[in-house]
Amino acid sequence: MPPKPVNVLDFEAIAREQMTPSAYDYYAGGAEDEVTLSENREAFRRIALRPRVLAGTATVATDTELLGLTLPYPIALAPTALNRLGHPDGELAAARAAGKAGALMCCSTVSSTSIEDIAAAATGPLWFQLYVYRDREVTRDLVARAEAAGCRAIVLTVDTPQLGRRERDMRGGFTLPAGISICNLERYGTADALRWSQTSSFTEYVHHLLDPGLTWEAVSWLRSITALPVLIKGVLTPEDAALAVDHGASGIVVSNHGGRQLDGVMATIDVLPSIAARVAGRVPMLMDGGVRRGTDVFKAVALGARAVLIGRAYLWGLAADGEAGVSRVLEMLAHEFKLTMALAGCPSISAITPAHVSR
Ligand code: FNR
Repeated sequence: MPPKPVNVLDFEAIAREQMTPSAYDYYAGGAEDEVTLSENREAFRRIALRPRVLAGTATVATDTELLGLTLPYPIALAPTALNRLGHPDGELAAARAAGKAGALMCCSTVSSTSIEDIAAAATGPLWFQLYVYRDREVTRDLVARAEAAGCRAIVLTVDTPQLGRRERDMRGGFTLPAGISICNLERYGTADALRWSQTSSFTEYVHHLLDPGLTWEAVSWLRSITALPVLIKGVLTPEDAALAVDHGASGIVVSNHGGRQLDGVMATIDVLPSIAARVAGRVPMLMDGGVRRGTDVFKAVALGARAVLIGRAYLWGLAADGEAGVSRVLEMLAHEFKLTMALAGCPSISAITPAHVSR
């Protein structure tokens, strides 16, 4: 029996022991030299907190508003592929845990459970993360299915025209275990998706199916086929944030895909302030990458994020203990975040300002 985890990092150690090495590497790894992967964490460490004292924090309210949703805290589940690699209950466990907490879950296009089945298990709000396929009719149908399933927004991931070089997966020859597939795509007769599970690499699959030539036209097209808010995930510069707003995005997710795409890009927490300055509150901004502590959430909110998305943090909880593990990870981060607010002198989210951090 592994020791009782007291923080997210403990959960990673337990998950690592319980997962196969290739599944662990698929979750944990980044692109090439993993410079950006480690920078995401290091950059949080470099930012110090500037607490205010005697600020009256006997009660601390962590709830926040995001595109019409009231969330218990500014922490949501990031879209991550193939949750059943971590635990047999996969996305269903994640959706149940998020639902119990009232937390937002963003479902991945390449989930190992269909969006319909996830929605049936979910009791909290869902968003749908979209990859644009070469076949726009497949893409259109995915969006219609997400709408029909009750998803409240579409999150278009724009940092993946091709897959980054994940060298851990190349060394380990990562393929899907028997019984795990990319469920959302099965009905389109994409034999590639099925064949991939037996023979080829994820890179090959992505190159076959995803549109490598996307432009801002895709955002306009997406807005023309759905009434749902569209967020753009994978923005790393103020220039692109401004273009996203100009193209009618309802929100921006500052993300480097957890260091899995272009290695050598800046840590997301480091690019957040300049993007916040350019967006100037016109649309809400989210960020992800390296969030493992409540203090990380606080720093992100202080520098302009309405909420953070957690990827690996929840995957470690899932792999260690299924639904209960995801619940514990959410509880731990929420508790740490609330404690940080109290110790930093912030009784509410709106009290958290850039003056609470030092860069
Ligand atoms: C991801 N991410 C991701 N993003 C996306 O838009 N669609 C996807 O299908 C996936 N799949 C995926 C799988 C795994 C195993 C990981 C770790 C990540 C990226 C994810 O949404 C998010 O940007 C990062 O996970 C954030 O970094 P942290 O929290 O993992 O450090």
